[in-house]
Amino acid sequence: MNETNLQNWWQPFTNVRAFRQNPRLIERAEGCFLYAPDGREVLDITAGLWCANLGHGRQEVADAVHKQLMQMDFCPPFQFGSPVTFEFAEKLVEYAPDGLNRVFFTNSGSESVDTAMKIATHYQRARGKASKTRFVARERGYHGVNVGSTSLQGIPNNRKGFPTLEGVDFLPDMLDISNSAFSRGLPEQGGDKADALKKIIASRGAENVCAVIVEPVVGAGGMVPPPRRYLEKLRQICDDFDILLIFDEVVTGYGRTGSAFAAVEFGVTPDMMTTAKAINGGTVPMGGVFIKEEIQDVIFDAAPAGMPEIFHGNTYAGSPVAAAAGLAAFEIYEREGLLTRASGPIGQYWENALHSLRDIPHLIDIRNYGLLGAITFAPNPDKYPTGVGVPVHNKCFENGLLCRAVADNMVMSPPLTISEQEIDLFIERLRKSITDVLG
Ligand SMILES: Cc1ncc(COP(=O)(O)O)c(C=O)c1O
Repeated sequence: MNETNLQNWWQPFTNVRAFRQNPRLIERAEGCFLYAPDGREVLDITAGLWCANLGHGRQEVADAVHKQLMQMDFCPPFQFGSPVTFEFAEKLVEYAPDGLNRVFFTNSGSESVDTAMKIATHYQRARGKASKTRFVARERGYHGVNVGSTSLQGIPNNRKGFPTLEGVDFLPDMLDISNSAFSRGLPEQGGDKADALKKIIASRGAENVCAVIVEPVVGAGGMVPPPRRYLEKLRQICDDFDILLIFDEVVTGYGRTGSAFAAVEFGVTPDMMTTAKAINGGTVPMGGVFIKEEIQDVIFDAAPAGMPEIFHGNTYAGSPVAAAAGLAAFEIYEREGLLTRASGPIGQYWENALHSLRDIPHLIDIRNYGLLGAITFAPNPDKYPTGVGVPVHNKCFENGLLCRAVADNMVMSPPLTISEQEIDLFIERLRKSITDVLG
């Protein structure tokens, strides 16, 4: 086999110079495992990038994609529509929280977030509240990389040096290791942090605030479950001040928390919900925004006759191939009970397994919810200026484990198909990797 030329692809969010020195190539995937070109097996404890919820290599999804490609590979979504995409939208809203029964398709989470921002401001204007243009996001939040979503980023490196929109305020970070370390599930302390929203509204004026957007459980920023009563409070404050609430469910959707969506799991219904990734098992790029019917009605009623109701959308939005993959993915989600599996015995096994690491002296926190997990190392900036997670992550890969590092945290989100034996293997490899690096 020819050696792979590593010069031409500039990979996203990658230290490319280091990668070229020490390439980590993966060329095959099956179930919960990835395989390097030399055949070395790596346990995928991140479901790719929070997307391969069905596990890798599902024949039914591949067959559905092939069939759809041969039947109709592309259908222009502007002024036309493919039946398979309408069918998939209908399937999706079966699982969305009550009332969120309109879906605007995109190709990624970032596009979903920018789309939600546009729909939100459009809605406010359509109902005569054009001054409501400001957004509220949260520190540590990750919402994607387009200009709108970059502006909502609560992770400083992801905003720094890029063009961003004015008019965004940030709620305080939910992570509170000093009060809630080693919580199982939702932390008891910290629900009051939602009250910071009232201060922001008071300083900006409710008449200027369009929407609040949060991940119900922080994902890429370090996996942080919401404290008890936090999301309920946000919902109440948004209602009190006539502000839209948007949940970014790009990570938490499709069974990750133990319900189809975190909104369902926590019993808090947002006005819009952004999604992507596991929408079709992470197989074909696709995202979407779930929207309350009333919001669409207001926009439609205000739109001039004979014109599109919104001048927005992407060429590949609602691609029939992505939709066919989605329908096949949902057959598997439903047949194998994957959308609720994390709330059953495997979720409990996962929680116990993660917390069995508590004896490791370098750890200052372990968190879990559904099939999500995170550990936090005591920071050691002199020795590890970019965080302890990175060297541990590198060692994990050498030891046959794919985890994600976020500064001093490691975050985990395995395929929802993971078995108890695979969880045991994960713990064994993670423990070994931590010991190899930190002693
Ligand atoms: C919560 C959240 N929103 C948005 C995005 C952006 O999604 P994408 O990378 O598909 O653009 C991500 C990606 O990880 C995410 O975790």
